Amino acid sequence: MIEPARRLWSALIAHPWWRRVVTSEPYYVMRVFWRLPPAAGARITLRRRLNLYLQRLEHGLGRTTLWSKPSKLTVEATNICNLRCPACFTGAGESGRGRSHMSLDFYRRLLGELGPYLLEVEFYNWGEPLLAKNIYPMIEDAARRGISTTVSTNLSLPFDAGDAERLVASGLTTLGVSIDGARQASYETYRVRGSLDLVLRNCRLVRDAKRRLGSTLPRLTWEFHSFPHNVDDVPLARSLAAELEMDLVVSPGWMIDSDWDGGEVVDYPIAPAPMRCPFLWGAAVVNNDGGVAPCCGTFYSEDDCGQLAPEPKAGGLTKFGDVWNNDRFALARRFFRARQGSEAERQHVCFECPMTVLYEDYQRHRGSGGRWADYQMPIASSAAFNYFWHRRPPRAALTAARRPVPAAPAAPPALGDPVAPGGRRR
Ligand SMILES: C[S@@+](CC[C@H](N)C(=O)[O-])C[C@H]1O[C@@H](n2cnc3c(N)ncnc32)[C@H](O)[C@@H]1O
Ligand code: SF4
Repeated sequence: MIEPARRLWSALIAHPWWRRVVTSEPYYVMRVFWRLPPAAGARITLRRRLNLYLQRLEHGLGRTTLWSKPSKLTVEATNICNLRCPACFTGAGESGRGRSHMSLDFYRRLLGELGPYLLEVEFYNWGEPLLAKNIYPMIEDAARRGISTTVSTNLSLPFDAGDAERLVASGLTTLGVSIDGARQASYETYRVRGSLDLVLRNCRLVRDAKRRLGSTLPRLTWEFHSFPHNVDDVPLARSLAAELEMDLVVSPGWMIDSDWDGGEVVDYPIAPAPMRCPFLWGAAVVNNDGGVAPCCGTFYSEDDCGQLAPEPKAGGLTKFGDVWNNDRFALARRFFRARQGSEAERQHVCFECPMTVLYEDYQRHRGSGGRWADYQMPIASSAAFNYFWHRRPPRAALTAARRPVPAAPAAPPALGDPVAPGGRRR
């Protein structure tokens, strides 16, 4: 009985008609629509699932004010950092907003409103989350609500066995450790001020704490951003990662004004896709000062779409829902219908964003009878990172001009040096 059914199935999927179906755009869209995002460990309640489908429907229809809530939240637990990575706004010494820690009270209000809909919370954007005063209770609160949690850290900081146990006991789902090199010289070329020995020792403490507490979580990931100066370290990183019980993930490192795609070593090449920006319909980014950004690529408060009151008495709105459907968010979503607007509206960060420009180009392609399968991407994978990097408000240019020029590093050429025109991923 099973064998004939299997043969029938094999014949069906080998048929050219079936192949046409499974490579068609409607089939792809339907598959993507029903698939749950990889939010490991999230409790998929009926409310979360229905909200996700409603969100996807609104995304597909391009609605500009939404009934659905975000299913992913990025909170900037702190925007303070100890390292000086040259292609990171914080590392480069830019000031997007005042340095501070997100208050626990503000975070809890946010979670109270959005928690029933969220599948995932990320605790970092442009700072170092393990320096945040409230990081452990923040993770614990989200984990208790059945929300998948992720921290990405440089882990080149003071950390002991007690901290490792607290982190494991917090219920954290994924701990990504940014280690861009397997030898100190290559590692510190990007992770300026970082110590590879310290990071590896701290990873060992987390591994041992997991063993002691009998926990499979957090999943430990070695985030290796490949650059021309560190690609040769990948085999050594792979063996060190195995010893530390970490999954090595190699992805392209952002390089300023470069077309670098990460080289042969990357596990996940980053390719832009012509779609409406997923952030604007499904992922909220809330900064330490209550500023709500349109996505994780923007850094300066000037580009925020709204302001939440971090303390009840401070200025700004108290409900996230009032920001999510305000004029600036609605305008950003409207650009994905027609990329038009007044002079003032065109200053919105989303207007010139490569996601918006790419989507407009794709619509033109479709309008002239082109198919999804034969669309040629006109931008480099690095375009988004470079767009955000070069979009600096006037006050940022002023700060940079006043800042003393740092002493030249003894290491190889700084990654922030212009190399060639082009761009990279966000
Ligand atoms: C700005 S960092 C903040 C979190 C934390 N401080 C860290 O470094 O992991 C956010 C993410 O950006 C990544 N990142 C930083 N510089 C990068 C680069 N040049 N290319 C690719 N990813 C980068 C980090 O590894 C991290 O996953
Ligand atoms: S460790 Fe993270 S936040 Fe700090 S400078 Fe580097 S990338 Fe930026």
